Amino acid sequence: MDTVLSGIRPTGFLHLGNYFGALQNFTRMQFDNNCFFFIADYHSLTTHPHPADLHENIKNVLIDYLAAGIDPEKSTIYVQSDVPQVCELTTLLSMNVYVGELQRVASFKEKVRRQPDNVNAGLLNYPVLMAADILIHRADKVPVGKDQEQHLELTRDFAQRFNRIYETEYFKLPVAYNFGKQLVKIPGLDGSTKMSKSDNEASCIYLSDDPAVIRKKVMKAVSDSGPTEPNQPKPQAIENLFTLMQAVSAPETLAFFEEQYNKCQIRYGDMKKQLAEDIVQFTAPIYEKIKELRSNDDYIAKVARMGAEKARASADKTIKDVREIIGIKHF
Ligand code: ADP
Ligand code: TRP
Repeated sequence: MDTVLSGIRPTGFLHLGNYFGALQNFTRMQFDNNCFFFIADYHSLTTHPHPADLHENIKNVLIDYLAAGIDPEKSTIYVQSDVPQVCELTTLLSMNVYVGELQRVASFKEKVRRQPDNVNAGLLNYPVLMAADILIHRADKVPVGKDQEQHLELTRDFAQRFNRIYETEYFKLPVAYNFGKQLVKIPGLDGSTKMSKSDNEASCIYLSDDPAVIRKKVMKAVSDSGPTEPNQPKPQAIENLFTLMQAVSAPETLAFFEEQYNKCQIRYGDMKKQLAEDIVQFTAPIYEKIKELRSNDDYIAKVARMGAEKARASADKTIKDVREIIGIKHF
């Protein structure tokens, strides 16, 4: 049985990109894998959230996870900061990680460019903490979107380095994973290639958006004027609408609009109307569940406590083994 681990930072509600990149189908994996779904609250501290918001955001992601179909009896849902062993493993791994290699990480360079006033050490160390999240449960597969591929590569480097230094095969080498084989990138409504709450809130459709909000957002999505000649390549914003449609609509619907596009007969208003309805239909069961869970604080607290216990038991075993391998012994 494989161990699967998925993590999301609590920086807001979950959107369709998170769903297709890190959640969709993975809820199915719960039946024949040992699955961990966690909320990466330490990672979210790199952007200094307001203390009053942090707990609320964690709770919202927990609710979104449950509503998306994670069964807390089958899988382990937990909050990263409930498992302090992750911090210990981060410290131990970081001794064999070079500052230069962390400075070359694409996501770090991007942050330096975007937020030059807040280049904190947590950002630099981000991939080490992430590797610790994964290695603490010795995960085999890590469902993530395309943007996380490099972090997974680094996790394998750190694991391999540990194994080499200590002449062991203790850590498995985890792979970035998507059910459909290729890692996916869901585009934004703002014409950008990635739906992302960190980049632009306006690019996102949240699982918790009500149908009226979804319709409004989709109708306002960036589009373009139609093609003037048959079979022209699509501009990015139009490509985005088609990619979203591919994710949520029936294949016949997609084929219909493809044909309309290729014949220069497409009306983007009609396409967006259809897309909005298909998204509403897709998210409706999740949205209903979210509403129900929001008024059930006791249940949410119980899920978090249960998950923390299961995650700590798994993490504790790894930390004991790692200490032993490294030569840290109790008197
Ligand atoms: P955001 O970019 O909105 O801040 P996160 O960085 O918290 O989202 O992403 C959490 C998980 O969701 C990661 O595994 C990430 O790869 C995945 N993800 C985020 N946005 C997308 C997207 N547009 N398409 C596919 N996967 C995505
Ligand atoms: N870095 C991931 C993101 O930004 C979140 C994350 C932290 C994660 N630790 C992880 C994802 C471990 C998978 C496994 O989306």
